[in-house]
Amino acid sequence: MDDGGEVKALEDSGSAVYVFLVCAVAAVGGLLFGFDTAVIAGTIPFLTKHFALSEAMLGWAVSSVLVGCIFGASFAGSASDRFGRKKVLLVCAVLFAISAVGSAIPRNLTEFIIARFIGGLGVGAASMLSPMYIAEISPAKIRGRLVSLNQLAIVVGILVAFFVDFLLVDIPDTNWRWMFGSEILPAVLFLLLLLAVPESPRWLVKQQRDDEALAILARVGGKTCAKAEMAEIKEAIVQEENSVAQLFHPGMKVALIIGVALAILQQVTGINVVMYYAPKIFARAGSTVDASLLQTVVVGVVNLTFTLVAIRVVDKLGRKPLLLIGSAGMGLFLTLVGGAFHYDKLEGPWVLLFILGYIACFASSMGPVVWVVMSEIFPTRIRGRAMSIATVCLWIACFLVSLTFPTMLEKLDGAVTFGIYAVMCAITFVFVLLVVPETKGKTLEEIEKRWMKQAKT
Ligand code: BGC
Repeated sequence: MDDGGEVKALEDSGSAVYVFLVCAVAAVGGLLFGFDTAVIAGTIPFLTKHFALSEAMLGWAVSSVLVGCIFGASFAGSASDRFGRKKVLLVCAVLFAISAVGSAIPRNLTEFIIARFIGGLGVGAASMLSPMYIAEISPAKIRGRLVSLNQLAIVVGILVAFFVDFLLVDIPDTNWRWMFGSEILPAVLFLLLLLAVPESPRWLVKQQRDDEALAILARVGGKTCAKAEMAEIKEAIVQEENSVAQLFHPGMKVALIIGVALAILQQVTGINVVMYYAPKIFARAGSTVDASLLQTVVVGVVNLTFTLVAIRVVDKLGRKPLLLIGSAGMGLFLTLVGGAFHYDKLEGPWVLLFILGYIACFASSMGPVVWVVMSEIFPTRIRGRAMSIATVCLWIACFLVSLTFPTMLEKLDGAVTFGIYAVMCAITFVFVLLVVPETKGKTLEEIEKRWMKQAKT
């Protein structure tokens, strides 16, 4: 197989299959992100009973993973600059495995929270590193599609978690332990697959390991492209120096505000209230545990289906129309959910239908588009740092929303709680309309020029 002619032919043309497989392995990080954060949904009634949780403590049990995410996302950038993307992704896989076992066998709530926190470190780090690794290894012309593979993996991970919860619910007494423990399978798979992928060529260039980087780039895009890409990488690395001061340059400040605001708005419009607490919401609306877990699987299917729709249309319709239509639809459906609580019309299929409408709107707009915009509005030389600031803000917002939801539902009732998230959708609509620029079809350089021009005026 290692016949010289064949290798040469491969190096001349590059291999789309190879780069796709490598990116698919990195996207398993996204799958674990989705799985780890969502698996808790089906365990809630059993955890509540086992640890005798109050609403406030339940909020803490659910959101402890997100504290880990905040730390994981904060340190992933610098750790991966130092040790390499691949090594830190390997550490993430180990953290996922430890968390799977630890959250399945805790002797008390503290041990459970520590185990979830450890998993969160992996989720936070992978939420930055998987897309970053994919962007760094893929050839420019298919980069967008390959990065969106990661969002697809997140929603597949969420769906798998909901399905596993549904399948294991009938195991007596220990069902919730098996639900958490099942994560060991994708975690070990991730670890083994990662051993076979190469290091990021961009990182290798930074370490002055040019020959290794060139060999990987040639395997991905062919020899001729590899040389051109190598020159581009070198130029970008030179530009990256002094990037911290540039973050607060007037033009960059606007980009940073947009990135951070979209990250926060993606969370305060309530998506993870549904993702993490769906069975609780359905139970509150009168469903049995089994029925509410099945309804949650339907939520996961709708989430996946509409994410596929968004990935198909995002480059045709543009980011801005999707965000506007999506946030308007989300606000409408949340108002209807709030109305169902207010008028006590909780019986029948209405709450489920309104929630599904809301998910369809989120999945075809804010879900993928916010990550796309975050990865393209920052100029190359500040992208790494700016994305990490925005990602950390996203996890902080996610933590606060998940922590406060059970208490809000108990103290303020469903109508006010969902009404608040609906108001956030209205704020998102106005913000996108007035502040967010359309970036569809523009090269990253054109987007960057816009910020430069704005800085001068
Ligand atoms: C969000 C996650 C959310 C997921 C739901 C992602 O874009 O960042 O917080 O759980 O979408 O599909």
